[in-house]
Amino acid sequence: MCGIVGAIADRDVVPVLIEGLKRLEYRGYDSAGIAVVDEQDVRRVRRTGRVSEMENAAIAEDFHAHLGIGHTRWATHGGVTEANAHPHISQGVALVHNGIIENHEEQRERLRELGYQFESQTDTEVIAHLIHHYLKESNDAGTGPAQGLLAAVQRAVKDLTGAYALAVVSRKEPERMVCARMGCPLLIGLGEGENFVASDVSAILQATRRVIFLEEGDTAEVTRAGVRVFDGDNVEIQREVHVSDVSLASLELGPYRHFMQKEIHEQPRALADTIEAVIDGGFSAELFGANAEAALRDIEGVQILACGTSYYAGMTARYWMEAISGLPCSVEIASEYRYRAAHANPKHLIVTISQSGETLDTMEALKYAKSLGHLHTLSVCNVPESAIPRASELVCYTRAGAEIGVASTKAFTTQLAALFQLCVVLGKLHGKVSEADEADYLEQLRFLPGSVQHALNLEPQIALWAEKFAGKQNALFLGRGLHYPIALEGALKLKEISYIHAEAYPAGELKHGPLALVDAAMPVVVIAPNDKLLEKVKSNMQEVRARGGELFVFTDQDSNFTESEGVHVIRTPRHAGVLSPIVHTIPVQLLAYHTALARGTDVDKPRNLAKSVTVE
Ligand code: F6R
Repeated sequence: MCGIVGAIADRDVVPVLIEGLKRLEYRGYDSAGIAVVDEQDVRRVRRTGRVSEMENAAIAEDFHAHLGIGHTRWATHGGVTEANAHPHISQGVALVHNGIIENHEEQRERLRELGYQFESQTDTEVIAHLIHHYLKESNDAGTGPAQGLLAAVQRAVKDLTGAYALAVVSRKEPERMVCARMGCPLLIGLGEGENFVASDVSAILQATRRVIFLEEGDTAEVTRAGVRVFDGDNVEIQREVHVSDVSLASLELGPYRHFMQKEIHEQPRALADTIEAVIDGGFSAELFGANAEAALRDIEGVQILACGTSYYAGMTARYWMEAISGLPCSVEIASEYRYRAAHANPKHLIVTISQSGETLDTMEALKYAKSLGHLHTLSVCNVPESAIPRASELVCYTRAGAEIGVASTKAFTTQLAALFQLCVVLGKLHGKVSEADEADYLEQLRFLPGSVQHALNLEPQIALWAEKFAGKQNALFLGRGLHYPIALEGALKLKEISYIHAEAYPAGELKHGPLALVDAAMPVVVIAPNDKLLEKVKSNMQEVRARGGELFVFTDQDSNFTESEGVHVIRTPRHAGVLSPIVHTIPVQLLAYHTALARGTDVDKPRNLAKSVTVE
């Protein structure tokens, strides 16, 4: 969703801002802009569409400065127009904002009465005027502009309800940038004689790796020489400096056409990294934190909360959890759970799954679970130091590396690997997993990256199938048991990036309704590995064939399938046992990718979607 970058330096910061905004493009956006403080004036350029269009305008208008802020906007309040794009300016105060201000109507009325006029439909413009109002008030009172902007921001944020990350500059104070955070991530990058602000470390990685993560309620003043951070009571405070390990290579395309393609192909490595600690040290509670054992022993069940693809990882984990650990497990979409009068068992472990660690619905569901009295919380997340793991007692970081494509791929399979580890650890602690079982699970994990590589080698065959899918309007995905969530994930990937309407059903459910949709125009993808449900799945496939439906079956080498009229088969090399859902994810990802390619859609930035969803 929206992205922020800001810089103050001796050099021209405009290229830094543009580069930073380009690095944020993957989050999804519909307009972009920068504002610079230039010889006592604020200049701004904004454009709807791509950052490159805004960049061309900035070059044409000869933008250069030592202080500036930039933004990519994903419309919430007000349509996709230049007037609604950030930065917003109020008489020399320019500001960029991520998040949503809930009381903006009320503040707008108040500011109108104070004589302010509004140029946009955004909630953000309210903040710019509020800051200007407090600056003017302190100037009128004679407290002087030297400490003005920081104090004005600190006063303004107290009037706001909602979520924000802000970066603010003023033409009267060309030596500083002020920022604030509540409910949306914001970090400060520390350089040599230059400093930066960003909503995501990738925006400033080209300049520095040393970062301070602002905490909830913090404000900060950033100059060339240094940074001062203040807590919610405006008391100056020291925040820890972290060194980011996000690699620049993970932000580059390399030889690939799309980030999604690159990330699909990175899965053997991402999985190997995610399981490395288990392979080296076994299934130990310490994988989830130094003091995890006591908490994990204490629990009596598991409640998983997540959205989208992460929710499907949770659905898969439920099958593992109940079979391997013997603990009861429920999975719920975070945005539903947070508004339900749930009956909490305090001893049910809350497991949130989030690639970004920022998803608002998941974060709010976690807060709600805590308010209901759940004693223990665990986050499975791909972004270190992001909000959800920081709010959780225990953490398991997937080691997928930065995921840039909007459609989640390597994050999903590494989430599955992490959740599998959790199931086995809980099984051990709760007396369900014997030493022999543990050795067997370890062995299966060892084979996993290799099996995933074999599945990737099927790409040419899958690309041929994709050509058939490209002309279709609808598709149906079927699976059973552990592979039903993979069918759901396959349907989600296809609809997200190719815009083909796709639905997934447990294969046994077909005859209870969706079979009515099946005719010769409906391709039916079946995930049918050689497990105990295979014969049942075969019967469901007969139901499809009998109605003229065309079947596209992903199975493994061990199952005795033959191709026939209307039945196409692609085989992964060997049945991957309990980890088969991870291996069978690869073909459905590749099918979606190649179908989208054949349809010529914007694979990495599908329409209407954002990478990290920080609004309700
Ligand atoms: C789909 C996809 C989304 C996310 C969902 C949750 O490809 O990426 O469905 O899975 O928005 O995001 P995280 O995992 O960041 O909480």
